[in-house]
Formats: sequence, structure tokens, C-alpha cells
Amino acid sequence: MRVLVTGGTGVIGSFLVPALRSRGHEVLVLTRREGVYGGIAGDISTGAGLEEAMAGVQLVVHLASTQDRKQWQDLDVGGTARLAAAARRAGVRHFVYVSIIGVDRIAYAYYRAKLEAEAQVRQSGVPFTIIRISQFHELLDSALAALPRIGLGRFARLPLPTRMLVQPIAAADAANVLAERTEYGPSGKIETLAGPEVRTSGEFAETWLEETGRTAKVADLALGGALRHGFERGLGISRDHAWPGQTFAEFVRERVAEGRPPAYDLRGSRPEAKEAKKTARAEARAARRTATQEKAAKRGSAVSQGPTAEGTAGGTAAEGTTTTDGTAATGMSAKTVAPSGPVSRLRSLLGKPFRKSR
Ligand SMILES: NC(=O)c1ccc[n+]([C@@H]2O[C@H](COP(=O)([O-])OP(=O)(O)OC[C@H]3O[C@@H](n4cnc5c(N)ncnc54)[C@H](OP(=O)(O)O)[C@@H]3O)[C@@H](O)[C@H]2O)c1
Repeated sequence: MRVLVTGGTGVIGSFLVPALRSRGHEVLVLTRREGVYGGIAGDISTGAGLEEAMAGVQLVVHLASTQDRKQWQDLDVGGTARLAAAARRAGVRHFVYVSIIGVDRIAYAYYRAKLEAEAQVRQSGVPFTIIRISQFHELLDSALAALPRIGLGRFARLPLPTRMLVQPIAAADAANVLAERTEYGPSGKIETLAGPEVRTSGEFAETWLEETGRTAKVADLALGGALRHGFERGLGISRDHAWPGQTFAEFVRERVAEGRPPAYDLRGSRPEAKEAKKTARAEARAARRTATQEKAAKRGSAVSQGPTAEGTAGGTAAEGTTTTDGTAATGMSAKTVAPSGPVSRLRSLLGKPFRKSR
């Protein structure tokens, strides 16, 4: 079959694409990057390249998503709608959309976008299967690696919400199941795939500390809103759909033995994240400049209305303002960049918005 995969360069996609190829399919990867093997240029946010990419395609597997909350509406919802419509127009026989267990029950913004995206697929008229999957081992591992550890030696603690019920699956296992499932054709239904074991986030964290050789102890820190509550109530798992694949302990042990870094980088080292920060800083600088100029102009006009120093007073005021505003604006810049602190990292523990290390 000729297959188009979106998100084929991502964490699960980089397992799915070879899995589909090894089953004899011709696989195209819709991507914004250059030099991807089998890559075809396209962007689901804008719709660029979608019609061309669909030519002769029988199966679409849609994985593309983003960790940038500002793009969830345009990319996850709008992009999914655009892609499904293009697939319907092209006569694609099966459209597979990968979603997440609990999107219908947990009121977290990313999950709401995924649920809306599912609705777009169902309404598009293309024959479809939606597959909701639990968190990847890669995600849990990366989240734990990014948590701040507090204290030293035997007093070291890893604080996190410890009572969430989680059922992670290796992305490789999920990709293999998915590759096989795509061949059965569309069910027109929502199907579910989850990992081999349900444990609490605290238990998984202890396993992770053991496998990575860290000395800290797990400490309960009940941060996080809808996501934490939902997972504590078991809304992100599905015991009936447990896939007997690699356990989390086996996954972390293997990663550590192979010397691989965690798959997702929460510190924002992806080029686009860096670019976004650069843009935010540039915008903040421009705003500071404008504010400085406006203040200088105001002072200038106030002074010029005064009894004496017309010309020079304006100049002096402007110089003074520049220095003062420059200092204050550093704080403003930090806010604009919105760094991911411990709270957002904890909130991200079971959500999606992570950045992958390259
Ligand atoms: N992570 C989890 O634990 C988990 C669990 C269950 C389900 N899921 C779902 O599985 C899917 C894949 O997740 P992942 O973590 O493997 O993804 P990921 O590693 O974050 O990769 C994101 C992918 O999206 C593509 N992409 C981003 N913006 C795009 C755009 N405008 N146009 C076209 N492609 C774009 C990127 O391709 P290029 O950069 O090459 O363009 C990249 O391959 C997502 O839908 C996610 O919700 C994830």
C-alpha cells in the first residue's frame, strides 16, 4: 500500500515508518524538514503540500502534533480537519488518527484539542479509525528526568504527584501494533491501546530512580489541576487494553545501558523552541524601545512646556529613561519568554507538550 504518515519524524513515527516499510508498504513522510528519507514537503498548519502528498495514497496515519499550546487549535484541530478533508477528496481508503486515552474524560487543554480533532476526523467523511494510546515510556522517562531534584545526598528528594494511575507503553510496541492494525481497514470507531502495567506515578518514579542509579527518594507534591485529578481517578488508563510489551523498568534499563538521552527534551532545546524564544525576546526589546521613546517624548513635551530648558532638557530626559527602562525591561523579557518551571514540568508529566531531543 502507498501510505502517508504525518509526524513520521517524531517519537512514535520514527518506529512506525520502518515498521510499515518492513511490512512491504511504500511510505511517504509528510514533513516540514529537508532530507528526510521518503519525505514529502507539507505543513498541516497551513495546508501546504497536502493535495500533492495525497496522490495515489490509500492509507494515511496521522501522528503530527505539537507541544506548543498556542498552536493546538491551528495545528491539532485545524490541521487534522485539513488533512482529513484532503484525504477524503483524494479518495483515501483509511485514515488512522492517533489520540490519547482520557481525552474525553480529562479537561486538560491539550486533551480537549485532541478530542476536537477526533470529532473533525469523524465528521470528515473519510473512512477512519481513531486509536487512543496511553503515554509512551519515552514521555514518562523524559518527564522524570526533567523534574527538579531537591536536597543533597540522603536528603535528596524527587517531588511529584505520586498518586496518579499510569499505564505507559513503549513507543516501539505501540508503533508495531499500529502498523499491523492499519492493515485491517477502517472500523469507524475509537479503539484503545495501553501499556502492560498499571502503577502509580510514585511507583514508576521509584523504578526510574533505581534504574537510572539516582539516590533521591520520591516525595509527594500534589501539584497540577485537571490532569493530576483525572489520572488519580484512573481516567487515563485502560486495564482491558493492556498490551503485554516492554515494561517501563525494561525500557529505562535499556536506554541507560545504550547511553541514550531521554527522548523528549523539556528544556526547550528544539530549534523551533529556541526560535520562539528569540522572537519573544526581540518583541520584548521592540516593546521596550517603543515605551522608552514614548516616555522620552512625553517628558520632552512636559519639559518643553516648562519655563526654561527647551532643547537640551528633552535630550537629557531621553537618556535617563533609556537606562531606567533597560533595567526594568529585563524582567519583562523573562516573563515574555515564559520559561518552563517545575510546576509546568509536573503538569506535563502525563500530558503531551514536551520537546524531543535531537
Ligand atoms: N507522547 C505520548 O506519550 C503520546 C501518547 C499517546 C498518543 N500520543 C499522540 O501521538 C502522536 C505523536 O506523538 P509524538 O510524541 O510521537 O510526536 P512528536 O515526537 O512530538 O513529533 C511531532 C511530529 O509532528 C510533526 N509536525 C509538527 N508540526 C507539523 C506541521 N505543522 N505540519 C506537519 N507536521 C508537523 C513533526 O514533523 P516535522 O518536524 O518533521 O515536520 C513531528 O514529526 C501525537 O498525536 C500525540 O498526541 C502521544
